[in-house]
Amino acid sequence: MKKIGIVTSGGDAPGMNAAIRAVTRIAYSKDFVVVGFERGWEGLVKNTTRPLTPRSVGGIIQLGGTILHTTRSPEFRRKEVLRKAAKNLALNKIDGLVVIGGNGSFEASLELSKETDALIAGIPATIDNDVFGTDETIGFDTAVNTAVSEIDNIRDTAISHERIFIVEVMGRTRGFLALIVGLTVGAEIILVPEVKLQKEKIVRRLTENSAKGKKSGIIVAAEGIGDTRKLATDLEEETGSEVRLSILGYAQRGGTPTARSRFLASLFANEAVELLADGRGDRIVGLQNGKVASIELQKSCRTEKPLNLNLLKLADVLTT
Ligand code: F6P
Repeated sequence: MKKIGIVTSGGDAPGMNAAIRAVTRIAYSKDFVVVGFERGWEGLVKNTTRPLTPRSVGGIIQLGGTILHTTRSPEFRRKEVLRKAAKNLALNKIDGLVVIGGNGSFEASLELSKETDALIAGIPATIDNDVFGTDETIGFDTAVNTAVSEIDNIRDTAISHERIFIVEVMGRTRGFLALIVGLTVGAEIILVPEVKLQKEKIVRRLTENSAKGKKSGIIVAAEGIGDTRKLATDLEEETGSEVRLSILGYAQRGGTPTARSRFLASLFANEAVELLADGRGDRIVGLQNGKVASIELQKSCRTEKPLNLNLLKLADVLTT
């Protein structure tokens, strides 16, 4: 291994910069040279690179987003596009590519691995926490904390006005973010796509709460459950309570990474560079039962990460 490339791709996640910094510095400590590809896969296709050195990655550990920029590139599944990228990897004499991203980035990495001799090591970074092969992804903890702080604010106004708030959080088709956020804000109800939505059950719960004297409430809903606007209207009609919808949106993707996100970035970067140095590629690194480990890229892409539904039951008990 002589030269490592780094690419950040897909949705940004807080802690990606900490990962770029750590990969670069660990690689240089092993006498490898590092180059960054700009704007996600686009950088590999257009060959837009920038040298990364231990000095040039100084002062970025605390920055959200990614200094390399990122894009979503659905065309990066087409053979001719992948071949162009593979050609540019060879042109730059890259022996190892570190891909920092989520499921989409790893699907693309898997396709690219069929076209290139460069070894690929994936570092899971997404606020969705939906990557199989790691207990937690870089950025998840930051997004959880951002959402919790916003919802704590919403709770004040909900109590004052005795209103019900549906707070929609991100997570794409999965409920990892909603589940932990819901549990840690003490949400009255948590809605995740993994559990069929039962409107009657929600109405019953809200009505019972109201009868008990609990006139306000927070419903944390994952964006993947469907139309939360319609749900708000329906619940208002069926409960007689005032129901407001607050969509947290992209604020969850930005901001200063928490210590946890930076820590994972450092651990994952170390494992990724170690893998490449050992000549082991086409794997993603992660935390498995709390320990740093790695699994095959293919296995990660082909397996759905399970959501711990016991936590939903726990949240239910805690909110009585
Ligand atoms: O994957 C991260 C994420 O923020 C999801 O939670 C969300 O559904 C999606 O990205 C939004 O995608 P885009 O950045 O393309 O709007």
